[in-house]
Amino acid sequence: TRPIRIAPSILSADFARLGEEIASIDAAGADYIHVDVMDGHFVPNISFGPLVMASVRKRTAKPFDVHLMIAPVDPYVAAFAKAGADIITVHAEAGPHLHRTLQAIRAEGKKAGVAINPATPVSALENVIGDIDLLLIMSVNPGFGGQSFIPQSLAKIRQAAALIGNRPIDLEVDGGITSDNARDVAAAGANVFVAGSSVYRGNDAATYGPRISAIRNA
Ligand code: DX5
Ligand code: ZN
Repeated sequence: TRPIRIAPSILSADFARLGEEIASIDAAGADYIHVDVMDGHFVPNISFGPLVMASVRKRTAKPFDVHLMIAPVDPYVAAFAKAGADIITVHAEAGPHLHRTLQAIRAEGKKAGVAINPATPVSALENVIGDIDLLLIMSVNPGFGGQSFIPQSLAKIRQAAALIGNRPIDLEVDGGITSDNARDVAAAGANVFVAGSSVYRGNDAATYGPRISAIRNA
């Protein structure tokens, strides 16, 4: 079975202290740093780009798990690779040539992930399952932190786990993850848990360690 990893999303960090907020979740036991990139086009919100990411990259040695909610995505793959991404995840819905995009990510020497929105079936990934290192099931509609987990996502996680089979592919879930639902999400087969508001709410670094542990222990 795949190792459990907790990936706090810096989307809910205090952006005025972004470097510190990243160092704090590193010290608090985060396994990955989840970086949500939004373009105001693919999703109805704008976050930050490769320049901001590069500037905070040196604050931790933990892997940067970069979730690109942008379209088109191909022109920016190299920039995020150079900015320090370790895993680059793109949306299956973001363009007509997903296979080409995944090849471009691997050509940069990075791990390639694919995300699917709540309305997209797991079957959309059947023809790229041999070309990815991470499969991300969105359990909210992307664009904002702090939304509620969509219950139908559990069935999709089970379908994704079946599609992955024995392949060494991380199964990540993003949106509305809390210590209350993490157990069910893990039972469905997920091993990477993105958590934004449930870790960063209140932006008090003293709370991050216990909150990360609560999700891991669930
Ligand atoms: C949603 C982002 C998520 C989000 C998670 O568009 O991809 O990573 O920040 O936030 P929570 O955990 O608050 O749902
Ligand atoms: Zn995300």
